[in-house]
Amino acid sequence: MKVEFYGHVRQYHNIKSEIDQNIQTVLESGQYVMGPMLKKFEAELAAYHGTRFAVGLGNGTDAIWLALMGLGIGPGDEVITNANTFFATAEAIWIAGATAVLVDCCPDTKCICPEKIEAAITPKTKAIIPVHLYGQCADMTAIKKIADKHKLRVIEDNAQAIGAAGLNFKIAQLSDAATTSFIIQKNLGTFGDSGALVTNNAELDARIRKLRNHGSTQRNVHSYGFNSRLDDLHAGVLSAKLKHIDAWNDNRRKWAARYTAGLKSCKTIDLPVELPGYRHVFHLYVVETKKPEWRDQLVDFLVASGIDAKTHYSIAIHKQPDYPWGRPARVAGPVPNAEANAACCVSLPMFPELKPEEVDYVVEKVKEWDAKFASQAPEGKGLARAGQTCGCGNK
Ligand SMILES: Cc1ncc(COP(=O)(O)O)c(C=O)c1O
Repeated sequence: MKVEFYGHVRQYHNIKSEIDQNIQTVLESGQYVMGPMLKKFEAELAAYHGTRFAVGLGNGTDAIWLALMGLGIGPGDEVITNANTFFATAEAIWIAGATAVLVDCCPDTKCICPEKIEAAITPKTKAIIPVHLYGQCADMTAIKKIADKHKLRVIEDNAQAIGAAGLNFKIAQLSDAATTSFIIQKNLGTFGDSGALVTNNAELDARIRKLRNHGSTQRNVHSYGFNSRLDDLHAGVLSAKLKHIDAWNDNRRKWAARYTAGLKSCKTIDLPVELPGYRHVFHLYVVETKKPEWRDQLVDFLVASGIDAKTHYSIAIHKQPDYPWGRPARVAGPVPNAEANAACCVSLPMFPELKPEEVDYVVEKVKEWDAKFASQAPEGKGLARAGQTCGCGNK
């Protein structure tokens, strides 16, 4: 059996008529950039988040640095984020000209550790960018408290968790803005690149709208800006897909539960953790091998068995070759949990259109691999989960 990592074409086939209809509507409208479909999708996206505003942008990276720029954060300012995130979060901080300050994650959730955030704050700190990694929200209640105490801005990097929620908080409720990416592999993805920012801040919304469109809100009148627009064809695809996002996330949760039930007896891996009261939307289902040397062995075994397994993200940002490329950056203290996560992470196939027999085949193969090494597995949790205490109570 072959199990793919993504199911983009299956998803397209399932709602083909809805997507095709919206694409045709745009094609027949004659308005392809900043047209009515973009306006419609922005209204739908804001309503979905319960925010006043949503701005469609070129991609999720632009959404982060435009948010920083819109909040007046740039050279000389420090911005705190995860050491274990997709590279673009730090990259966006550098594009804005600010200093990326990388801090450790909590060992169980892999989301940024509030205690480590507080320890990393200096007089230059201006903002925190928590990443809702793998589809689970960072502890926004604790982060908001820290931000208020130190008068910091908060931008949620929500590229991976649209539709998720925390214990008593929603995304974009406790921050200045939340950004997202609609690159095809995201939970809400179009057939290409795009992104968005949602906010309740009218001033920020107006600034971003201008910045994304060559510094213009009126024909022939410009200020310094960029071209980072979400075009109407992609807005049409996203508008069709947004109607299904909750059901798709429910499916992801269903497959995650099936993986967890099937793999819970494994001795060589630790399984993902969903915090009580949170809605994890499993952008990725990431297990961690208890020994780092097992990560690539497990991936290779699965790939040889026809299962497309991957790693997210096997090289932490500060361990990338030639880091930080002359850009301002600082690793705040040791980051053992982030480094162990990089060393041990293995992502299993995860998309809403998986079939039960595919999930069961993945479980069977992981168990087959586990049986080979179980006798060498350490007692209790593995490197990425054990020993690195996290005092913030989030684990
Ligand atoms: C956590 C995170 N932040 C930012 C991005 C950047 O988004 P984009 O690729 O749309 O620029 C991504 C995904 O690509 C991501 O996973």
